[in-house]
Amino acid sequence: MDTIHIRGARPLRGTIPISGAKNAALPLMTAALLTDEALKLTNVPALTDVRSLSRLLGVLGSRVERVTGPNGDTLTISTPEITSTTAPYEIVSQFRASFWVLGPLVARCGTAKVSLPGGCAIGARPVDLYLKGLEKMGAEIDLVEGYVLASAPNGLKGAIIRSPIVSVGATHTLLMAATLADGETVLENAAREPEICDLANCLIAMGAKISGIGTSTLRIEGVERLHGATHQVIADRIEAGTYAIAAAMTGGDVTLEGASPETFDAALSVLRAAGAGVETGQGHVRIFRNGERLQATNVVTQVFPGFPTDLQAQFMALMTLAEGESEITETIFENRFMHVQELARFGADISLHGDKALVRGVGKLTAAPVMASDLRASAALIIAALAAEGETTINRVYHLDRGFERLETKLGACGAEIWRAKAQ
Ligand code: UD1
Repeated sequence: MDTIHIRGARPLRGTIPISGAKNAALPLMTAALLTDEALKLTNVPALTDVRSLSRLLGVLGSRVERVTGPNGDTLTISTPEITSTTAPYEIVSQFRASFWVLGPLVARCGTAKVSLPGGCAIGARPVDLYLKGLEKMGAEIDLVEGYVLASAPNGLKGAIIRSPIVSVGATHTLLMAATLADGETVLENAAREPEICDLANCLIAMGAKISGIGTSTLRIEGVERLHGATHQVIADRIEAGTYAIAAAMTGGDVTLEGASPETFDAALSVLRAAGAGVETGQGHVRIFRNGERLQATNVVTQVFPGFPTDLQAQFMALMTLAEGESEITETIFENRFMHVQELARFGADISLHGDKALVRGVGKLTAAPVMASDLRASAALIIAALAAEGETTINRVYHLDRGFERLETKLGACGAEIWRAKAQ
């Protein structure tokens, strides 16, 4: 397996181009299944999850053409016919978003057999809300040998679906399913994440009728069919937030080019509160620190527009060197603290109390061999390593390759000493 090596304790200075958002690209790709015409997606990041989903779409009957460009890849996905409605365990177990083919498959074919998902081990991550929602729309659901069997031979029907908790994946799935249902569907307590808005905007370009975008009530008037469209994937707010934290951590000065500051405003506010300099403009963000130590700052993860759980691990890494004690509360996933014991290997002082981590800032971090446990936790280890004295080795970097495009190149261009050792 590849390893990443970082010789730390040097500031990041320069410009980092922000890629298209993984968490937007994946649902957009599954939306291609809703039409027999071509969906062309631009600004798609080159990541393993995108490649794995392309493979899954191929199994279901799509032709996926990829053209690599200077600003991300262009994927053209055509599915004149769905040739299989089974999404196999081998692929769906690798990343959770592949489960989201469930909605489009039932909507277009009236049947689907989709393996229960895998993905980052950051909690129980059930799919009950997806299944209850589809049942409300008239689908029959069975669970057989680790697969969800969904059947709606006469098509899905519009329904009012109120989710007890906000779920990004359930909202994506039900939103896609509702576009081809008979009548109006209302999704109450829907997720409002920018990636949901991106999907809704693409679906509208494909002919869907959706209102309430950006609010917690989405109204979808089902249509007979959707058509092809061209759509640009939004910028990755988690990648941008991660590099913003890295810049603050190393005391550098970095401009994030192509970032959309309004999509990670909560994170930028917390960085400002901690003492980092933040300047925002149309399509760019500058983060800098003038040599003064950062101050301990508390955060609570929340659904959008709150502080994202996907930046919790990275922010915790930042707080390990801040002055004072910070409390980090994780409200979205119950087991998302696996980075704590790895951060301790750098000399961080963190204790866990249920859903809270108490971080006592230390004077310095020291390099150590560490192990990535999930996608965003890996990013926290990169941030710690960039600030640590000595050479860090990060193992299991395939987690990073799922979510961070050209990580070594982007950080290397800003002065980081970072390289990858290929597995023999
Ligand atoms: C998506 C993101 C992930 C992010 C998360 C929260 C992608 C590919 N992944 O994950 O990066 O961390 O949103 O912003 O976009 N839940 C249930 N039942 C369900 C569904 C969810 O109880 O049927 C719970 C989950 O266990 C979790 C909470 O709801 O505690 C939120 O999860 P959800 O928003 O669904 O996350 P994902 O869509 O899996």
